[in-house]
Amino acid sequence: MSDKIYDVPAEWAKRAFLDDHAYRAKYEASVRDPEGFWGEEGKRIEWFEPYTIVKNTSYAPGNVSIKWFEDGVTNVAWNCIDRHLPTRADQVAIIWEGDDPSQSRSITYQELHDEVCRFANVLRNRNVEKGDRVTIYMPMIPEAAYAMLACARLGAIHSVVFGGFSPDSLAGRIRDCGSKVIITTDEGLRGGRKVPLKANVDAAIAKASDVEVDHVIVVKRTGGSVDMKPGRDVWYHEAADLVTSECPAVPVEAEHPLFILYTSGSTGLPKGVLHTTGGYLVYASMTHQYVFDYHEGDVYWCTADIGWVTGHSYIVYGPLANGATTLMFEGVPNYPTNSRFWEVIDKHKVNIFYTAPTAIRALMQAGDEPVTKTSRASLRLLGSVGEPINPEAWEWYHRVVGEERCPIVDTWWQTETGGILITPLPGATRLKPGSATRPFFGVIPQVVDAEGGVLEGACEGNLVIADSWPGQMRTVYGDHERFMQTYFSTYPGKYFTGDGCRRDADGYYWITGRVDDVINVSGHRMGTAEVESALVAHPKVSEAAVVGYPHDIKGQGIYAYVTLMDGVEPSEDLRKELVNWVRREIGPIASPDLIQFAPGLPKTRSGKIMRRILRKIAEDEFGNLGDTSTLADPTVVDDLISHRQNKK
Ligand code: WT7
Repeated sequence: MSDKIYDVPAEWAKRAFLDDHAYRAKYEASVRDPEGFWGEEGKRIEWFEPYTIVKNTSYAPGNVSIKWFEDGVTNVAWNCIDRHLPTRADQVAIIWEGDDPSQSRSITYQELHDEVCRFANVLRNRNVEKGDRVTIYMPMIPEAAYAMLACARLGAIHSVVFGGFSPDSLAGRIRDCGSKVIITTDEGLRGGRKVPLKANVDAAIAKASDVEVDHVIVVKRTGGSVDMKPGRDVWYHEAADLVTSECPAVPVEAEHPLFILYTSGSTGLPKGVLHTTGGYLVYASMTHQYVFDYHEGDVYWCTADIGWVTGHSYIVYGPLANGATTLMFEGVPNYPTNSRFWEVIDKHKVNIFYTAPTAIRALMQAGDEPVTKTSRASLRLLGSVGEPINPEAWEWYHRVVGEERCPIVDTWWQTETGGILITPLPGATRLKPGSATRPFFGVIPQVVDAEGGVLEGACEGNLVIADSWPGQMRTVYGDHERFMQTYFSTYPGKYFTGDGCRRDADGYYWITGRVDDVINVSGHRMGTAEVESALVAHPKVSEAAVVGYPHDIKGQGIYAYVTLMDGVEPSEDLRKELVNWVRREIGPIASPDLIQFAPGLPKTRSGKIMRRILRKIAEDEFGNLGDTSTLADPTVVDDLISHRQNKK
């Protein structure tokens, strides 16, 4: 923790939409009269049929139901594209920067319109209709945004799956939502390396044999050779040649689903988080405008991948709804060199830059020189998202990257929340390094104790949100029970975030990290249960328990305790084999950093693994194991401690 405070810089006080006084007044209005507040704010998008009902939400136990603007009719793609054409046809909508620094491209709003319509017509020709699910498994190329917007234009529901996920993970996601159409590329390209996306899709379809995939649409990216199955697979460029660049936007109700995005929880398979149309777009647009203080003409860059919610809300939907210029980057921070981010900023004159603490920490390790040799004169605002940012990384980002003139917005939110919930506003909020500061409009955070008692003033506990906001997820796709169970049963009547937090005497929030069995590895969310089930699927593994431990770059690393089958000898080779096995089963982001072979795991007499003890050992806190008297066999703990793996 840090007790430093940074005031709003003078230029910011002049240019920003809101100062502190305006923030407080607007926040107060938003929670005093949500109907009135959002009734006005909903008009920031255009409606084919206006809404008369603003908020119809209930967190009542067993009967959770969330609807915003429910009788309004609109279309997300129309709002992100068509309505801008009279004034912005020739303005750049998307700047694309390729993995290879010699490749980039600008797409105007008119071109975006034509490309999205073409893509929508290709889908329409394959019988994609309102409500159908379409899986998108693509690298960071403009066609990925066209594909998302084409679905939205038709009222189809997209499910974007991160290109780093394995065929198995992809298969599970195709199966869960029953998508009959998949959009992919021949290969992806990241950091100079090729990723076999089409081959992964083929393998996934073979695995999801119970699902009928009718069409695979393949965008050509690298020209690498792929198998094309006649009748099922089609090259996008060939199909697009046969269609026009006009396609009507299908009017949909405000609560019509826009997308499903799978995310890890503390138990079971990843959940299909469902977001809908009207409230989501209003919230993504409003937060993008105020949090990043987006003004006409600004060049905005969010480095996330469209496989995560950050890419949905703050590369595609929020910025385009606001008629912004949004940069889409195919590559990675350290290719070809550690100056890449800063060179891209100079090349495209980026004003607003939004990235993750893990990237900041990795670049910080490379020293100041790769940063200081670039200009970065265009930069005005910096953002952070995905995990708590440690004060050292915050200070470096502020001092070296932003040269002390750029405020940092540390934005706390989740896949489930659709948009940013706790954040500074650059013209309004004095910053404390490491704190996400204050709630956005309409958001009522509360800190509760284990029993659900609401704590007042400066305190520490679990973070809940007391009432709905328009960007909130509506359900778990196909499993409303699980939705209610996961988010509304721990503290009945409140949305439980799964995060712990502290609130200081100024009312600032400090997120302390997950309090459930979810870990955050390089800003990617992993359920420990998922990694465990991948490990026990290996024929030589009898039992596994996975916990997080502090990692200098990744935030948290993955620590796996593995008990082998009788007669199997531990070895370095087996350790490597297990790491590769998990990579293959889930994807590289789930690779265990450390594997400890454990003859026994600490269990209670009823057979429950005491994960608290495993966490403490992985965190190096041997002196602080707590009560071990309920263990069936307390001696396993000594063995675990003496064989603890060394951190990398
Ligand atoms: C979890 C949500 C929101 C898009 C990216 C991650 C952690 C996120 C912050 C932040 C501290 C943060 C939380 C949260 N988190 N942003 N600014 N400060 N923690 O989305 O994969 O749904 O993960 O990420 O633990 O619950 P996600």
